[in-house]
Amino acid sequence: MMFFDAIYHILYYNSSMDTVKEYARRKGLRYHVITYGCQMNDHESEKLCGILEHAGYTKSTGSEDADLILFNTCCIRDNAEQKVYGNIGALKKQKEENPALLLIVSGCMTQQKEAAKKMARVFPFVDIILGTHNQYELEAAIKDRIFDKKKTRAHAEQKQEIAEDTPVLRAGWPLAAVNIMYGCDNFCSYCIVPYVRGRERSRSPEKILREIDSLTQDGYKEVMLLGQNVNSYRGAGDMTFPKLLARICADTKIDRIRFMTSHPKDLSDELLTVMAGFPRICKHIHLPVQSGSTKILAAMNRGYTREGYLELIGKIRRTLPGCVLTTDIIAGFPGEDDQDFAQTLSLIEEVRFDSAFTFVYSKRSGTKAADMPGVVKKAVQRERIVRLIAVQNEITEEKNKAYVGKDCTVLVEGVSARDSAHVCGRTDGGKMVNFAGGSDLIGSFRAVHITQAKRTTLFGELR
Ligand code: SAH
Ligand code: SF4
Ligand code: F3S
Repeated sequence: MMFFDAIYHILYYNSSMDTVKEYARRKGLRYHVITYGCQMNDHESEKLCGILEHAGYTKSTGSEDADLILFNTCCIRDNAEQKVYGNIGALKKQKEENPALLLIVSGCMTQQKEAAKKMARVFPFVDIILGTHNQYELEAAIKDRIFDKKKTRAHAEQKQEIAEDTPVLRAGWPLAAVNIMYGCDNFCSYCIVPYVRGRERSRSPEKILREIDSLTQDGYKEVMLLGQNVNSYRGAGDMTFPKLLARICADTKIDRIRFMTSHPKDLSDELLTVMAGFPRICKHIHLPVQSGSTKILAAMNRGYTREGYLELIGKIRRTLPGCVLTTDIIAGFPGEDDQDFAQTLSLIEEVRFDSAFTFVYSKRSGTKAADMPGVVKKAVQRERIVRLIAVQNEITEEKNKAYVGKDCTVLVEGVSARDSAHVCGRTDGGKMVNFAGGSDLIGSFRAVHITQAKRTTLFGELR
C-alpha cells in the first residue's frame, strides 16, 4: 500500500469515520448517486458508492427518499453541463423542505476551477463540491458537514499517486469495469478531458491482474478495461497494452475481455496479433475517427490522416475478419466546410461502421479549438448532424440485418427493461441481443439464433 493510501486508511477508514458510520446507521441514512458521462464516470460512481456504504449509508430507491444526493458530473459538451445545472436546480425545493439533505457535486465539471466557483455561486445550498482528484475526501467532507457544519469546496491539482484499495460497490454483475489507466496526454484541440482528468497514469499490471483474478473468483464473466486511450498504456518496463492483454489471458480465467477506448494513432500491429490469438478478447474495436477530412483531423490534433485511418481499418479487417467496428464523429468543428463534411460522409460510407456516436462540436473554454476561426453556424451544424445520423442509421440497420439467420454466443446480462419474460445480453462484438428467457440465465453464455434485427438490438431464440 502506498504512503498516501496508508494515511487515508488510518485517518478516514478506522477511527474518526466510525462516528459518521454510527450516525448514518443509527439514523438509517440513505444515498442516491446520479452519474453523467462516460464509462470512467460510471465506474468512479461505483467507487463513490463504495465509500458511502463504508460510511454507513445504504442505497435509496430514488432522490425523493434520499438523505444524500451525489451528482457525478461530466463536462465533455455544453449540453452535459446544462443537464447537471437543471437537475441540481430542481432539488432546491427538496433542500429547503429538508435542510439535513446533503447535496454533493463531484466529477469532471467541478474539476474546472471556474465551473466549481460558478456552481458554488449559483447553488449556494450545495453542501460539498469535490474535483475529480478530491473524491477520496468524500467521507471526511461528509463528517465535516454533519458534525462541524462545514461546507467543502475542494479542488486539487493532480496528485501523482493512484488511490488503490478504495471500496467499490459494483453494480453490473456479470460485467465489471477495470481501470487500467487514468488521464489523457493527447490534447485533441476540442477536448476538455486532459484538463479535468490530468496526465496519463497507468496502473501496475500486478494490481490489474489481481483485481481481475478476484473478480473472476467472485463470479464475474466479463471485464471492460478502461482508459481514455488504452493503446498508450505503459506498465513498468516494456509492458505495453498488447502485452498486458496477453498476460491477462495467460494469468487469469476471466471469460471475456473488452477494452475502451482505442486511439487510432497508437493502435499497433501487435495489438491486432494478440487480439487474433486469444478468443477471450472480444472482437470489437471502438475507434473514434472524429472527421473524414485530413485538414480537420490536423486542426483537431488527432495525429493521423484520412488515408492513415482507412489503412488501419483495412489492416483490422484483414487480421480480424468480422471484428465489430464503432466510432465517434464530431460535426461542425471550426473550419469544417462543405467539402470537409462530405469527406466525413464518404468515410463512413466506405468504412461501414457497425454504429457511431455522433456529436455536434461544442466549444469548451480553455481548449485550443475554442479560439479557432471558422466557427460553423448552429443551423449548419444541425443540418450536418442530421445527415450524418441518417447515413449511419441506414448502415447500422444493414449491418445488423446481416446477423439474421446466424447463431451468436450471448453473455446474458439481465432481464429486458421492456419485457420481464425476456433477457438481454451482448455478443462478443458487443451487439445487444434480446430473447425469451428467465432471470436464471443471467451470467451464463448462451447460443442464440438471431431472427430479427433492429437498429439498436438484435432479437433471437435460444438454441
Ligand atoms: N478518449 C476517447 C474519447 C473521450 S470523449 C477518445 O479519444 O476516443 C468521447 C467523445 O466525445 C470523443 O470521441 C468525441 O467524439 C466527443 N467529444 C469530445 N469533446 C467534444 C467537444 N468539445 N464537442 C463535441 N464532441 C466532443
Ligand atoms: Fe479527449 Fe483526445 Fe484524450 Fe480522447 S484522446 S480524451 S478525445 S484529448
Ligand atoms: Fe468522461 Fe465526461 Fe469526464 S466523458 S472523462 S465524464 S468529461
